Amino acid sequence: MGAQVQGRPVVVTGGGSGIGAALALEAAGRGAGHVAVADVDFEGAQAVAESIAAQGGSAAAHRCDVTDSAGMEDLAQAIAAEQGVPGLVCANAGVMSAMAPLLDAASSDAEWVVRVNVLGTINTLQSFGRLMAAGQEQGWLMATGSEHSVGVPHANSGAYTASKHAVLGMCDVLRAELPDHVGVSVVCPGLTASLLWNATRQRPDHYGGSTDNDPGAGAFMEQMGMSAETVAQRAFDGIAAGHFLIPTHYHARAYAEQRAEDMAEAYDRLSEIDTADYDLNRTVTQFLEQLTD
Ligand SMILES: NC(=O)c1ccc[n+]([C@@H]2O[C@H](COP(=O)([O-])OP(=O)(O)OC[C@H]3O[C@@H](n4cnc5c(N)ncnc54)[C@H](O)[C@@H]3O)[C@@H](O)[C@H]2O)c1
Repeated sequence: MGAQVQGRPVVVTGGGSGIGAALALEAAGRGAGHVAVADVDFEGAQAVAESIAAQGGSAAAHRCDVTDSAGMEDLAQAIAAEQGVPGLVCANAGVMSAMAPLLDAASSDAEWVVRVNVLGTINTLQSFGRLMAAGQEQGWLMATGSEHSVGVPHANSGAYTASKHAVLGMCDVLRAELPDHVGVSVVCPGLTASLLWNATRQRPDHYGGSTDNDPGAGAFMEQMGMSAETVAQRAFDGIAAGHFLIPTHYHARAYAEQRAEDMAEAYDRLSEIDTADYDLNRTVTQFLEQLTD
């Protein structure tokens, strides 16, 4: 069975804009008991919470920085104390730096992207996941990955692609570790109309500070991207059905297929010269099973 949000508290990080704002509104529309809209941009979060309240829902804005692990622990404790343990947490906050070849990208930008997208997602999953795992009620964790989680859509975003592969990897491990009453999904959108093209508007000073990126990229994203509302609807349909992987754009199948083909081809080359590995694999699996018994 998939996620149930009816009457339950829902938390969305990065809820003040784009996909996060649409997830927060979709949660309210599907009967969430309360929506906690958490964002480093408090005003953005407030505007979304007010829209939910204007539609008759219950919502509150929270200032949060997902890279602050202690702050995320405090946020999880505070929301659980006020509203109860959430039925769904959307670990959605993410950033992208200006596009550049990996060899030319500023290392401070790569650090920022990894810190927010990887460590921030881990902090969110840990702080809320622990509360869910310790309780009895059903809970669901949904991380926002990307088409960059399943393959390589395009060049010039090496750190971002690495970070989104990491989101898929951590959730795949998490699903093997969580107790039965806690589920996990990764929503993997393709191009979506949002402010991601200009994420550097909120880049902290120690990673290079705030700058405005090319408005042309924003116009392109606005014109070509799927609406954040459609992404949110597909995400919620996916978790309701209990799916782990939730793609939202069909074209991204080609990236996943390319990755799978490359992998299979590489291993097929090896299997022709070395079949002893099959035994090694069995031995390693048995060893790990003993450790976790
Ligand atoms: N827009 C796309 O084409 C697209 C495609 C695939 C995946 N995604 C992913 O969707 C997620 C949401 O991005 P979006 O497209 O809605 O962009 P967006 O810039 O419109 O929204 C991102 C939100 O995250 C917040 N945020 C940034 N750093 C934060 C931090 N340290 N702590 C808390 N909040 C923080 C921002 O303030 C902003 O409100 C991201 O994880 C992004 O990587 C976006």
